[in-house]
Amino acid sequence: MDKRILLIISGGIAAYKALFLIRVLSKRGIATRVILTRGGAEFVTPLSAGALSGDTVYGDLWNLTDEAEMGHIELSRSADLVVVAPATADIMAKAAHGIANDLATTTLLATDKRVMFVPAMNVRMWEAPATQRNIETLRQDGSLIIGPDAGAMACGEFGEGRMSEPEDIADAIEHALAGHTTLDALRGPKPLLGKHALVTAGPTREAIDPVRYLSNHSSGKQGYAIAKNLQALGAKVTLVSGPVSIDAPLGVNLVKVETAQDMLSACQAALPADVFVSVAAVADWRPSVTADKKIKKGQSGLPPLILEENPDILKTLSNLKVGRPKLVVGFAAETNDVAAHAQAKRLKKGCDWIVANDVSGDVMGGDHNTMIVIDAKGAETWPRLTKMDAAQKLALKIAERL
Ligand code: CTP
Repeated sequence: MDKRILLIISGGIAAYKALFLIRVLSKRGIATRVILTRGGAEFVTPLSAGALSGDTVYGDLWNLTDEAEMGHIELSRSADLVVVAPATADIMAKAAHGIANDLATTTLLATDKRVMFVPAMNVRMWEAPATQRNIETLRQDGSLIIGPDAGAMACGEFGEGRMSEPEDIADAIEHALAGHTTLDALRGPKPLLGKHALVTAGPTREAIDPVRYLSNHSSGKQGYAIAKNLQALGAKVTLVSGPVSIDAPLGVNLVKVETAQDMLSACQAALPADVFVSVAAVADWRPSVTADKKIKKGQSGLPPLILEENPDILKTLSNLKVGRPKLVVGFAAETNDVAAHAQAKRLKKGCDWIVANDVSGDVMGGDHNTMIVIDAKGAETWPRLTKMDAAQKLALKIAERL
């Protein structure tokens, strides 16, 4: 399992649902490590939480054995996301005020990861001004809040306060683990239903011989994030990707290719599309001859590396006389005079929008991006965002246009 959450189970009748959550997450390939508060342990046992998570269950800040095995600071950093489910009014009040007097609250204060609270309590406690104030503070601190749902409650009352269902919590966890800093796109409308989006991503590889190739540093993260966000808005997505080491986004039709020529053929085969988003860092050139055996060193001096130009996929699809996607979006990787070069590139390629990014910093391979979106009317500069949030903003803009 490549992702891990730290699950804090605090004391509420909904604690049993946290056990189901561990199972749902494990089926989705997400590992869970559990902290059980003293209150939580009144409702579920460390034994059941440990059996389901397959890991030590931590409970007491003052437990020397636990603390020697993994200190509370290390514990707070050992996961990709911290989830408090169920989150009682008490633990949220403490977290909102920075009170740290047991393992769970100390961990919440010490963590450098995003925290998700899944509240569960009586409706009056939920509606109390103090709870609402604390929730607002936690939100402003960057925490994610899931639920609560409305319905009949264990205490016999009816209203908002039920803990969200494990499948819904797992969806939100996956969404956050994918890099989203808000949950807005998760249950939003699906304006792209019935639309087909074609996206290219990653680098291409142009073989010199069976073991060597020309390529670049593209990680594919931005293109994959755009594909996922278009899909989240309801589009059917074909993602034509060069070799990358990230997982295929769920629900997206992934076509893997190596070379620029293969990428062009795969894109042509995927048409018609309503929108084409060309994010791939296509190699501009390829060796004009690929040796069929490994080139040996020093036999006749340096091997000649003669290059020829690769097809320009963006330009080809932008200039289709028949079957041109309604909206064609190119990307421009620039290191200087970003907006000016990108505007010139838009005209040269014939696309409708071009998204410029300054790749002089850590954009290639990094998790953040600052985009400038340029169309015939002008340029719009977006703030520095995670690639996932930038992708969501772009997908929404595409949906608006389509
Ligand atoms: N692109 C493409 N096919 C190519 C080269 C680029 O589809 N053979 C697309 C990219 O996916 C991107 C846009 O064209 O959407 C611009 O890519 P970029 O590398 O910035 O521009 P180049 O055309 O390669 O120009 P230059 O290297 O001179 O900046």
